[in-house]
Amino acid sequence: EKGGYKHFMLKEIMDQPNAMRNALRGRIYQPADVPDKWEIKLGGLEKAKEGLSADGISPLERMANASRLIFAACGTSWHSSLIAKYAFEKLAGVAAEVEYASEFRYRKPLICRSDCLIAISQSGETADTLEAIKMAKQHQALTIGVVNVVGSSIARETDAGMYLHAGPEIGVASTKAFTCQVVALLLMALRLGKQRGVLSETTLNSYCAALNSVPDSIEKWLAALTDQTRIVSKYFRLATNAIFSGMGIHFPVALEGALKLKEISYIHAEGFPASEIRHGGITLIRNFVPVICVAMRSDPAYEDMKQMVQDFRAKDAAVVVLTDDGNTDFSNIAHFTLHCPDTKLELQPLMCCIPLQLLSYYIADMRGCSIDQPRNLAKSVTVE
Ligand code: F6R
Repeated sequence: EKGGYKHFMLKEIMDQPNAMRNALRGRIYQPADVPDKWEIKLGGLEKAKEGLSADGISPLERMANASRLIFAACGTSWHSSLIAKYAFEKLAGVAAEVEYASEFRYRKPLICRSDCLIAISQSGETADTLEAIKMAKQHQALTIGVVNVVGSSIARETDAGMYLHAGPEIGVASTKAFTCQVVALLLMALRLGKQRGVLSETTLNSYCAALNSVPDSIEKWLAALTDQTRIVSKYFRLATNAIFSGMGIHFPVALEGALKLKEISYIHAEGFPASEIRHGGITLIRNFVPVICVAMRSDPAYEDMKQMVQDFRAKDAAVVVLTDDGNTDFSNIAHFTLHCPDTKLELQPLMCCIPLQLLSYYIADMRGCSIDQPRNLAKSVTVE
């Protein structure tokens, strides 16, 4: 069942190119007769569920007219929501907020009819996320589900949505569901950007072409990346603390890297927006502390990030940098540099999270941890 892999988690990491292709299949395509033209079709949003379309308005049209989007999720799915916020603001020009479902449901959030709540969940059974949906419905907001498990409670409870088609995720630590959530949310942001007239045809086409080629880029990269991350993992396997840092759309990537590491290796880890470390967390930076930095050149905050990497190194931290293919800016600064395939900024998290998943996996394996079933942790949290 593990397809020759030692753990489901590793199988699921390696399965990501295929899982992403499944998430894209039928939704993004090139009309036969027009070169360089791309279309996005999201069946679950363009047609309302039966009984819900009395006014003839599709969920997509309602989303396009929404005054704001509210993403509600937990854990890893909360991280993909944060990535989505950057993408929806930039590509669809719509205000977006991200909420921990468990925090949202216990306050009195101001929700109005023109809001759209987007619930993100692998299992579709997370109790807090389900409750957030019910609250949004009470206020007559539109509810959209982005869910992996077909027919799950969240899929049934929401007005419309998208399935991930990532296939079953068995490892407790989420990997392929995370990347497929990001793929689905990028598709949704692009489709909404078109609907709202925010994206020009040329820009839309270039994003679609780039998104469509991400699975192939990752597939070609995986073997070499695996060898590199094993070497880095050996070096860090005895750490007790680790810092992950990134800025902008890579801040959620840093949070996800930290969550994966603490989840399966039990090493304490924190994710920071790089500059924010100056406001307190910097006291944790000392000799031998692993600091994993995402520093992509397309990032508007790249120069700041580079400065922070230099600061970390000056404090004798053990610095790992994830950066672009061919970038030599860190050759004399970082202890290890991992080069990610090029793509557009908003798609870059899909690449950058892979080395972090592998790093956690190999570190946990070298520490002899119970990778597919970490202590105290359930695959789906249905209790409140
Ligand atoms: C992390 C992890 C959890 C889940 C969280 C939400 O690897 O698996 O943090 O992401 O419990 O679960 P879903 O997405 O099923 O709602």
